[in-house]
Amino acid sequence: MTGLLEILQAIVFILPAYFANAAPVVFRTGASRIPLDLKIKFLDRRRLLGKGKTIPGFIIGIIIGTFIGVLTSYVVDIYPTKSMHVMVAFLMSVGTMVGDSLGSFIKRRLDVKSGRPSYLLDQLPFIIIAIAIVYPFWPSILTVPIIAGLLVLTVVVHQGANWIAYKAGMKKVPW
Ligand code: CTP
Ligand code: MG
Repeated sequence: MTGLLEILQAIVFILPAYFANAAPVVFRTGASRIPLDLKIKFLDRRRLLGKGKTIPGFIIGIIIGTFIGVLTSYVVDIYPTKSMHVMVAFLMSVGTMVGDSLGSFIKRRLDVKSGRPSYLLDQLPFIIIAIAIVYPFWPSILTVPIIAGLLVLTVVVHQGANWIAYKAGMKKVPW
């Protein structure tokens, strides 16, 4: 059975991924425009990742996600040591930004324009890669129901957070 404690632990566990994913929007890194793909084109002559993925955005995501890991490491003990807590948050943040870029790579191959919505491709690659990269460190809590719950939670939180960012004027589109 999945108890309340496991659910709370899983939410604290996943927070760095959510913050890493949101950081580029909050810090408006798109304005700096140093594209992560350096404007390189793929075989289909479309951009590898497109203009929505920038180097500053990638870096700020990792910094903010790791910082959230540092903060939560002082509030809750879910790992044997604080340094492990922070290391998992760091790895998860890297996984988030890599997965987010992978999502864009797939969107471009499907000819979805940068910034246009793609249901599930906008929400799932980042969380799947983030969970996969840290799985070896915490397999005991990452049971099938917890992982399934986190995937569903991510879709809901992603929709909600983007809508709030749109209403707050941080994004031009509500997705
Ligand atoms: N962003 C960034 N660098 C990243 C990721 C995101 O600068 N590595 C910023 C960009 O300004 C981007 C915004 O955050 O427009 C929202 O991110 P996201 O929705 O993931 O990108 P999209 O613009 O929708 O692009 P794509 O279609 O490739 O998902
Ligand atoms: Mg988007």
